[in-house]
Amino acid sequence: MKKIIKLFDPVVDLSERKSLLKVLDSKFWASGSGSGFVKKFENEFKNYIKSNACIAVNSGTAALSLAFSLFDIKNKEVILPSMSFVSTAHCIVENGGIPVFADIKSDTLCIDPKKIKHIISKNTAAVLPVHFGGMPCNLDEIREIAKNHGLHVVEDAAHAVGTKFNGKKIGSNGDAVCFSFHPVKNLAMPTGGLIAINHKNHVKFKKLLLSRRWCGITNRKDTDYDVKELGWNYYMNEFSAAIGLQQLKKLDKLNKIRRSIAKKFSHEIDIKSKMPFNENCSYHLYWVLVKNRQKFREKLYKKGIETGTHYKPIHLMKMYKGDNALPITESVGRQIVTIPIHPNLKKFEIEKIIKTINDFS
Ligand SMILES: Cc1ncc(COP(=O)(O)O)c(C=O)c1O
Repeated sequence: MKKIIKLFDPVVDLSERKSLLKVLDSKFWASGSGSGFVKKFENEFKNYIKSNACIAVNSGTAALSLAFSLFDIKNKEVILPSMSFVSTAHCIVENGGIPVFADIKSDTLCIDPKKIKHIISKNTAAVLPVHFGGMPCNLDEIREIAKNHGLHVVEDAAHAVGTKFNGKKIGSNGDAVCFSFHPVKNLAMPTGGLIAINHKNHVKFKKLLLSRRWCGITNRKDTDYDVKELGWNYYMNEFSAAIGLQQLKKLDKLNKIRRSIAKKFSHEIDIKSKMPFNENCSYHLYWVLVKNRQKFREKLYKKGIETGTHYKPIHLMKMYKGDNALPITESVGRQIVTIPIHPNLKKFEIEKIIKTINDFS
């Protein structure tokens, strides 16, 4: 049977297996009473990105929802790109806010700071940039706009574990930065996420998040505990953290492999509109834009190459349908194809992907 070149393929070895068995045998699988891997993961991730505080949760979606619970966005607008996964918008609605979509830049597919400026209103409370595919947004421009208008910046860094901006890791700066450790992500867990906080109130925010990720519970001493506010069951489990600790050790090495593949793709793929090469990018995704997307994907599939369509723009979904036109997002949404870029790819598979694409174009 022909081997399929998968779109995503997490890199796992004996180290993850050994760690998982430790947790299994400990019989303490939840975070609070667990074997301590969640806390260890939070500390090691904090050292890795160099942030003030890190709070691990059970998904990137939970990270975004909790991050917005720190800021008052009720009945206020939050500006975000539509080219993202739906969680990027859901977290705003969940916290009582109003998502307002801004168009993206055609070279990076990240939110266009100029477009943010155009749609800021008196009712805008925050901006939510997405580091698309791992490409860093222009945070200098976004933070400058936010500062001038008194807006919060919450970053969706689901794709950007290990991405750098101005020589520093994404998450080392910024009010609240949200990561995802979904199995397809560069740092893979069964499910997981994390909020990095660098806000001046980071000590208070950390306390709030610790309580909100576990049903609003504070002051836990044996069975004596108190609840002062609403909370959710969002904590990370010990199995995820055990895998995450091993994944973190190899993250830089694996991201370097992703970058070397991206460099080859951007030099050798004969398509004009494709993801540019950037030394600072984590390359969670690699995208190309093609006019005849259906045929293109079928051709690659016949040759044993899986592809994806990340993403259908959020503002075109029934729940979010509005009347604001986003021409670049809509055109990209019709043409985008994501191709395999994971570190398990063999040299001949990378050559095959390039050749198959170039034979089509
Ligand atoms: C841009 C973006 N934001 C948020 C999320 C949500 O992360 P999770 O799947 O861990 O909940 C994802 C997941 O695919 C994503 O790609």
